Amino acid sequence: MSRNDVIHKETCEENYKYIFKPDILRGKVAFITGGGSGICFTITEIFMRHGCDTVIVGRNLERVKQASETLMAATGGRCLPLSVDVRKPQQILDAVDEAMGQFGKIDILVNGAAGNFLCPLDQMSFNAFRTVMEIDAHGTFNVSKVVYDKSMKTNGGVIINITALLHLRGTQMQTHAGSAKAAIEAMTRHMAVEWGMNGVRVMCVAPGPIADTEGMRRLGGGRVNEEYEKSIPIQRLGLRVDIADVCLFLTTRGSELLTGTTIAADGGSWLTGSNNFYQTKKLLSAGHSLSKAKL
Ligand code: COA
Ligand code: NAP
Repeated sequence: MSRNDVIHKETCEENYKYIFKPDILRGKVAFITGGGSGICFTITEIFMRHGCDTVIVGRNLERVKQASETLMAATGGRCLPLSVDVRKPQQILDAVDEAMGQFGKIDILVNGAAGNFLCPLDQMSFNAFRTVMEIDAHGTFNVSKVVYDKSMKTNGGVIINITALLHLRGTQMQTHAGSAKAAIEAMTRHMAVEWGMNGVRVMCVAPGPIADTEGMRRLGGGRVNEEYEKSIPIQRLGLRVDIADVCLFLTTRGSELLTGTTIAADGGSWLTGSNNFYQTKKLLSAGHSLSKAKL
């Protein structure tokens, strides 16, 4: 989706069922990149439903503003929307200063901003590969560094990096995103080692296929049907709220021994999913679009 496209209006959970006490994040502040849409919008919502103040950032100011209005109306919590490109350090410095000015600290950072598309390796331009590496991997480093320097170094905190399971087997048409997520997973372990003594825990949450998301619309390639769902051990796609609940757990005392690790939140799909390039190529050439890539 280009930044000029019509903004899809995000909606909140209609009937959220609490697992934890509704005030478990009262007094906490979360900074969430990519919080204006998809999975990270719902992570923001669930944090707010538990009393957390939030800051959401993305490139498109209108998108984050609209998301923040929806979130505040549904939860009664506070959400500061800011325009930031995670590839641009000065924009991050300014946004974190603004967040600190408003809330005084950042306890939780979710690095969810990402870019992706299906593209066979031999058709990927230098810039296409670099763009995804810069948004996902450099973006995670850039934002973590600023939030650590300005708040977590002295106050501690939890960093959750949203990755994926693409690189575990080497997924067709996902070399750029898989490489970026693998780099984030390594970075997570380095950060956990260096920042642990300052009271910072750093983890990855790696979603599998999640329904009603831009990621699935872009990457599903027409493969998502009943047969596909039945191939997943838990017999269904993940939901945004599943990922939000996992992230919530990682902010609680129940997860205090977890750091430097990756939670695969995919219902076991990576263990059983097909990774058949020729089958996908046939399916896509039968009518499913890859936007730019020519097969
Ligand atoms: N197939 C192949 N190459 C593609 C592509 C596609 N579908 N989409 C973009 N690219 C290439 C571009 O051609 C360009 O390379 P070039 O200069 O050699 O032509 C490069 O990627 C950068 O594209 P650009 O549109 O300038 O990047 P951007 O920084 O404006 O946007 C994207 C980043 C491309 C990742 C864009 O899709 C985006 O903004 N995504 C955010 C939402 C998203 O991806 N959600 C899913 C998360 S899982
Ligand atoms: P999404 O709705 O497209 O979310 C991506 C967000 O990142 C958008 O809000 C976008 O906002 C923001 N973003 C993109 N580039 C940015 C940049 N340079 N700077 C700042 N913000 C930027 O996608 P999603 O499907 O919910 O995915 C969310 C996360 O889950 C991603 O990390 C993705 O890799 C991961 N994931 C998703 C799935 C899935 O099934 N959907 C599976 C595995 C992993 P702007 O356009 O306004 O910048």
